[in-house]
Amino acid sequence: MKPVKIVAICASPRRKASYYVAEKALEAAAAVDPRIETELISFAGKRIEPCVGCDCCKKNKTWCILRDDMQPMFDQLKEADGILVVSPVYTMAATPQLHAFCSRMRPAMHCFPDMLRNKFFAAVAVGGTRNGGQEAAVMDIINLFGTRTMNLVTNEVGGYTGGKVWSRDQGAEGAAEDRIGMKTVVDLAGKLAEVCLTYRLGKEALAAEKT
Ligand SMILES: Cc1cc2nc3c(=O)[nH]c(=O)nc-3n(C[C@H](O)[C@H](O)[C@H](O)COP(=O)(O)O)c2cc1C
Repeated sequence: MKPVKIVAICASPRRKASYYVAEKALEAAAAVDPRIETELISFAGKRIEPCVGCDCCKKNKTWCILRDDMQPMFDQLKEADGILVVSPVYTMAATPQLHAFCSRMRPAMHCFPDMLRNKFFAAVAVGGTRNGGQEAAVMDIINLFGTRTMNLVTNEVGGYTGGKVWSRDQGAEGAAEDRIGMKTVVDLAGKLAEVCLTYRLGKEALAAEKT
C-alpha cells in the first residue's frame, strides 16, 4: 500500500512556535501507524503573492500564472491525504500569508474540482496571548480550507474544533510549556491520521470489491 501522507502547513513567516507545534503534530500523526508518512511545508523564507483576480485560471482552465513559491508547495499538497494547517494568530485571524496561499488555490476549485475533494484537513492556531484569538483563527482556517471542497476533521472531546496553543510570544519553548494546548494538537493530529488511514483502507477495499 502506498503510504498515507499527512502534510503540515506551517503558515508562519518564521521557524518558531508554530514550526515546533507542526513538528510535534507530525510526530503524533506518524505514531498512529507505520503506514503513515509525514511532510512539513513551512512558509518561512517563501514568497506567496495573493491572487490578483486576473481570472486567467478560470478563463483558460489552467494553473495560476503568477510565478513565486506557491506552485511547488501546492504540488506537495496535491500528494497529501491529510493536511494539518498550523497558523500563528495575527490580529485575531490566520496569517495574511495563509490567506494569500488560499486565494491562490482558486484554480483547484474552478478548474480542477476533484483535486482536493477527498482530502481531510484540521486546524491549529498558535497565539502569543492566552485568549488572543486562537478560536477565531481556527474558524478562519476552517473557512479558508473548507471552501476548497476538503473535509474537516475536528478534535477529540475537550479540544472542540481544532488545536489551540499559547506561545507567550516565546517561540518553541513557550509553546512547549503550554501542555494543555499541546495536548489539543497531539490529539487532533492523531485523529486526522486515523481518519486518513481508515478512509484510504476503505477506498482500497471498495476498489477491490469492484475487480
Ligand atoms: C502581526 C502580528 C499580529 C499578532 N496578533 C496576535 C493576536 O491577535 N493574538 C495573539 O494571541 N497573538 C498575536 N500575535 C503573536 C503571535 O501569534 C505569536 O507570537 C505566535 O507565537 C507567533 O507564531 P510563530 O512564533 O510561529 O511565528 C501577533 C503577532 C504578530 C507578528
